[in-house]
Amino acid sequence: MIANRKDDHVRFAAEQQRRPDGHNQFDDVSFVHHALAGIDRADISLTTRFGGIEWPVPLYINAMTGGSAKTGLINRDLAIAAQETGVPIATGSMSAYFADDAVADTFSVMRRENPKGFIIANVNANATVDKARRAIDLMEADALQIHLNSIQETVMPEGDRAFSSWEPQIGKIVAGAGVPVIVKEVGFGLSRETLERLRELGVTVADVAGSGGTNFARIENDRRDRADYSFLNGWGQSTPACLLDAQGAGLPVLGSGGVRHPLDVVRALALGASAVGASGLFLTTVLDGGPPALIALISGWLDQLKALMTALGARNPAELTRCDVLISDGLRDFCADRDID
Ligand code: FNR
Repeated sequence: MIANRKDDHVRFAAEQQRRPDGHNQFDDVSFVHHALAGIDRADISLTTRFGGIEWPVPLYINAMTGGSAKTGLINRDLAIAAQETGVPIATGSMSAYFADDAVADTFSVMRRENPKGFIIANVNANATVDKARRAIDLMEADALQIHLNSIQETVMPEGDRAFSSWEPQIGKIVAGAGVPVIVKEVGFGLSRETLERLRELGVTVADVAGSGGTNFARIENDRRDRADYSFLNGWGQSTPACLLDAQGAGLPVLGSGGVRHPLDVVRALALGASAVGASGLFLTTVLDGGPPALIALISGWLDQLKALMTALGARNPAELTRCDVLISDGLRDFCADRDID
């Protein structure tokens, strides 16, 4: 049952990547061009630090999959690309492992292929501390993601319908995990109010995981006989909207959801993300061309990221937040409605 769901998610997410729909709010973010702002490429460091974590690059492969034979092979290929490029990588939800030890290898293959890399295990907010620790141990994980996905569960025919335990459970996992915990959405975004609540629960970093890319309302509607919840397909806040909303929440944030190219990475960093993740695009790249294609894509992005930072005069990712950014159209309306300067 879980294995079929994992295969469905990959299939429908890949279809979405090949047929993107709608406006991406990253296009409402542009830089004021300062012709004398440029610096020397040799002076640039991509190192980023947040919530007690240091990464050599501000880019990561975000949570996707595992739990079936097919997705085990995808995890292997993603992990090979992470190992070759040095980017951190997250597993997909490890609920399938808690349900059946036999699928352990579809996750642990990522550690085998990437023995020294930064690996993030992934659990849902219902997980007990014991399960969270089992996930961390299996992966020898450097950090843990907890995903919040109430809208996905709502549209999923077999999804959870009880969310009240999530808050207390997050506090317990943070206290007992033994590694940094990153709380994330799955493509509907985290609001400022949610970030403030997470901070009170002891969380030290969150991934806003906003809308604009992989859309789990659409995926779960596609998995139903009838798309009963298609009215939720536009739910949530975009990643740039979330990053703007997060300013002042007092919690370092990562930016993911709808990231298409290095300019979106730079935009997200300029809006305050400490690092930027992508899932769906990296998935289709590895499905189409295997590890070599994903290695080439990520290496190219890191190279172009340095090129853009050189022209913008940012010596490191944090300095990008000093750039002059223009916000237009729907994103500007969002800022006005949420009293963001
Ligand atoms: C996901 N995502 C996800 N997130 C999570 O925390 N646990 C999970 O198990 C999954 N599963 C999953 C499967 C597939 C096939 C995809 C493409 C994605 C969500 C992911 O981490 C991310 O938040 C969203 O995909 C939005 O980012 P992109 O795809 O727009 O870059």
